[in-house]
Amino acid sequence: MATAAQQSTASAPDASRTFPEGFLWGFSTAAYQIEGAVAEDGRTPSIWDTYARTPGRVRNGDTGDIATDHYHRLHEDVALMAGLGVGAYRFSLAWPRVQPTGRGPASQKGLDFYRRLVDALLEKGIQPVATLYHWDLPQELEDAGGWPERATAERFAEYAALAADALGDRVKTWTTLNEPWCSAFLGYGSGVHAPGRTDPVAALRAAHHLNLAHGLAVQALRDRVADAECLVSLNIHHVRPLTGSDADADAARRIDALANRVFTGPMLRGAYPEDLLKDTAALTDWSYVHDGDLAQIHQPLDLLGVNYYTPTLVSRADGDGAHTSDGHGNSAHSPWPAADEVAFHQPPGDTTPMGWAVDPSGLYDLLRRMASDFPEVPLVITENGIASDDYADPSGQVNDPARIAYLRGHLAAVHRAVEDGADVRGYFLWSLLDNFEWAHGYSKRFGAVYVDYPTGTRIPKASARWYAEVARTGVLPG
Ligand code: NOJ
Repeated sequence: MATAAQQSTASAPDASRTFPEGFLWGFSTAAYQIEGAVAEDGRTPSIWDTYARTPGRVRNGDTGDIATDHYHRLHEDVALMAGLGVGAYRFSLAWPRVQPTGRGPASQKGLDFYRRLVDALLEKGIQPVATLYHWDLPQELEDAGGWPERATAERFAEYAALAADALGDRVKTWTTLNEPWCSAFLGYGSGVHAPGRTDPVAALRAAHHLNLAHGLAVQALRDRVADAECLVSLNIHHVRPLTGSDADADAARRIDALANRVFTGPMLRGAYPEDLLKDTAALTDWSYVHDGDLAQIHQPLDLLGVNYYTPTLVSRADGDGAHTSDGHGNSAHSPWPAADEVAFHQPPGDTTPMGWAVDPSGLYDLLRRMASDFPEVPLVITENGIASDDYADPSGQVNDPARIAYLRGHLAAVHRAVEDGADVRGYFLWSLLDNFEWAHGYSKRFGAVYVDYPTGTRIPKASARWYAEVARTGVLPG
C-alpha cells in the first residue's frame, strides 16, 4: 500500500504542457529595428529614415542609424540564437538594401548580407523565415505617392521577384507583409508611423494596395520557389465590446472590419466585407479596387501569421468625448476611418511599459476564432512579447520576471488553443534583441537579449534562458 507521501505524489496533477511534435520555436526581428548601417553598401533611405530624422516624430530623436548594429554582428547574433536552441528565425529584408530606390536591379552587396545571414542560420540548423516588408518603404516610392498608389504594389511584386530569385534556393518560408494595418492606418491615417500622413482616404487606399502587393508577391514567390511556403503576418486585433449592448457589439464589429477583415476578407475570402464598404461609403467609393484585383489578392496561403500583444476594448461613444487611447500612439488624428462613434477603453489587467494590458485570454480567443473562421489555413504566432524596464545589475545579469510571466501565460493560452483544436504550428517571440521600437525609439526593450546600446554588448536575459528551455524540450513547465 502506498504511503500518504507516495499517494500525494502520485495524484499531484502534472501542470506541465507538452506542445505538438514539430512545433516551431523561434525569435522575430525586423531590419530597420536592428540592422543599423543605413547608408552602407548602397542602401538608400526608407520612409523610416526620413521619419526618424524629422524632429518630434520619434522619442528622443532616436533613429535606426546604428540600432543594434546587427549588420556587422550577424554572426554573433546567429551564434546567440544557436546557443538558445531555437529552430527558426523570422527576420525581414530591407527593401532599400535589396533594391535601392525601389526600382531597377537588385544590389548584390545588399543581397550578400542576407545570403550571409541565411547561410549562417542554415549552418546552425535554424530555419530562416524571411519577411519581405516590415515597414521600410524606399523613400523614392513614397515620393512617387507611396502605398496609396497602385504603382507601389507593382514595384513590390518586382522586389519580391528579385528577393525570391536571389534567396529562394535557401529560404523556403516567406512572409509577404508584416502588420499591413500599421503601414496603412498608422502610416497614412494617424501619422504616428512613417510616412506620417493623416488622411483617412489615403489610409484606405494604402490598405487596398498592400493587399494587392501581398497577392502579387505570393504569385512572384510561387513562380520562382517551387516549394515556397507563403504567409502574411497580421496584427489581428482581438476586439471585445465593453458591454453586452447592441451598440457596443456594433462598435466592435466596425473596428473588427477596419482592423482585421479589411485584410482577411480579400486575402482569404476574395472579397471586401460588405459592412466595411458600407461603413466607409461616405469617405470613399473604393474605385481604386479594379476588376481582377480581388482574384490577384486571393491566393492560397500555407500559413496565417498572427501577431498578438493585447486585446482591444470598445464601446459606442456616448458623446462625452471620453475616448481613451486605442493603444496605437498619440495623435490628433484617428487611425480608424469613419469610426468616430467608437470609444476605446483600457482593458482590465496589469499594463506593460507600452501601456498595453496583459491578457493571455485574448490570444486564446483569437486563435480559436481564426481557426474557426479559416479552418483551411494553419496558424503560426509570428509575434508575441512584452516591453519591460530591464537593466543589467552590478553583476551583469538582467532579470526580467515580467517577461517570463508574460510568456508563461501566453504560451499556456497557445497550448490550450491547440488542445481545443486550433492548428497552430509555431511561436516566434518578439524579439531576439532589444531594438528600435518605432516612435518610442530605444526607450522600450522587447528583447529576450539585452542590448547595451553604447557598446553593442548583448546579454541574454533570464527570460532568454527560460525560453530556450521551453524551445529545447517543447514543454511549458507547470
Ligand atoms: C509589432 C511590430 O511588427 C514590431 O515591429 C514591433 O516592434 C512590435 N509589434 C512591438 O510593438
